[in-house]
Amino acid sequence: MKIFLDTADTAVIEKHFSSGLIDGITTNPTLIMKSGRNPEDVYQELIDLGIPDISMEVVGNREQMLWEGRRLANKFGKEATIKVPCTPDGLYVCRLLAKSLVKVNVTLIFDEAQAILAAKAGAKYVSPFVGRLDDNSITGLDLIKRISSIYNKQNVFETEILSASIRYVNSVSQSFANGAHIVTMPPTVFEKMYNHVLTDKGLELFDKDWKEVQAHT
Ligand code: G3P
Repeated sequence: MKIFLDTADTAVIEKHFSSGLIDGITTNPTLIMKSGRNPEDVYQELIDLGIPDISMEVVGNREQMLWEGRRLANKFGKEATIKVPCTPDGLYVCRLLAKSLVKVNVTLIFDEAQAILAAKAGAKYVSPFVGRLDDNSITGLDLIKRISSIYNKQNVFETEILSASIRYVNSVSQSFANGAHIVTMPPTVFEKMYNHVLTDKGLELFDKDWKEVQAHT
């Protein structure tokens, strides 16, 4: 059960990585654009922080994705996971990278048929987009359950389900309940995972009572 952060904001990542609860980072072109930084500076900073698994997305045609995927894997080593889209070109690249033992995250998964192809192409991770399915009136969490059921029945152990496009804490819990191995989430969602109103109320009471104990001992 692993938690990844879905962001390229290295300051926020550093803050949360120190909790010891973060297992990896996923980035994409949009998140890199929002950071306003050179992607490779971001990846290097994350490696220097000790992040063990960083998804680095490649774009373009199959030759471009393959060339860039190999280059990134060579440059960044074992921490690099190359992220490709679930297209014929993306899965072609996935298969070749996987053959040379490069970890591949197949992204933009919206149907279990795509997850089947990605597993056959040797993906280390498949990333179903829960929130974007919900945006289109399809229950994203059900897709996690269907992929998990297929992988379990077919003894697919090499490909892990990485639940992505997460908007709510409840989607994190339900992703794991439905069989996801990893959930990647924005830092704002991770921060909310700690919260419960009864924890706050209980703590307030314990703090008050402890002061009372100290005043009388
Ligand atoms: O990492 C890709 C995915 O998590 C994107 O999320 O919120 O843009 O749908 P979102």
